[in-house]
Amino acid sequence: NLPAIIAPSILSADFACLGQEIKDVLNAGADWIHFDVMDNHFVPNLTIGPLVCEAIRPHTVKNGQPACIDVHLMIEPVDAIVPEFAKAGANLISFHPEASTHIDRTINLIKDQGCQAGLVFNPATPLHYLDYVLDKLDLILLMSVNPGFGGQKFIPATLEKLRATRKIIDRYTAHTGRTIRLEIDGGVNPDNIGEIFAAGADTFVAGSAIFGKSDYTQVINAMRASIAN
Ligand code: DX5
Ligand code: ZN
Repeated sequence: NLPAIIAPSILSADFACLGQEIKDVLNAGADWIHFDVMDNHFVPNLTIGPLVCEAIRPHTVKNGQPACIDVHLMIEPVDAIVPEFAKAGANLISFHPEASTHIDRTINLIKDQGCQAGLVFNPATPLHYLDYVLDKLDLILLMSVNPGFGGQKFIPATLEKLRATRKIIDRYTAHTGRTIRLEIDGGVNPDNIGEIFAAGADTFVAGSAIFGKSDYTQVINAMRASIAN
């Protein structure tokens, strides 16, 4: 089992002091920075792009190392922006299969740019998109809310989908020895993270649950305590 990763979504941070928010959350024990990119087209909201990714890059040092910037693209089309995020210092880039006409090509593009690649599944998007690309993926991200906004409620059906995805990953890892992370995004908090972990997730995005509290360390500790990891 891979060590658990806590990835605060800066969507819920104070954008007027984003660099400080990122430092604070990494000092509080966060592992990655989850970076939500929305285009008011694929999803009904508009957020941040490569310029902001580049601006936060120097503020993401954790234990003397750059922490992973985990870019979640909720944009259509995808391909043209991938090199921009790679240049801006993204480590991992995930996209939704519905937003790309050529899924395999988009994954190749992300890898060719030197980033890790992830595929994102909306709550009602079937897992069969994994069928021919699993060997190229570094991460599978399951949405547990409909994307577009922070602060929504976790959709319970996602637990079953997590268990199904866990099986696919474990079978694949047993054959190949290669690991793929299973990330969950939407409505994660200290109260439900235990059952989400038990269903198979190893990488946890949380926006409002962390940035909505004044003591980030306390929330992140509470999350880790619930998954005993
Ligand atoms: C939703 C975004 C999420 C969001 C999570 O479209 O992809 O990353 O910020 O926020 P919470 O944790 O508040 O549900
Ligand atoms: Zn996200």
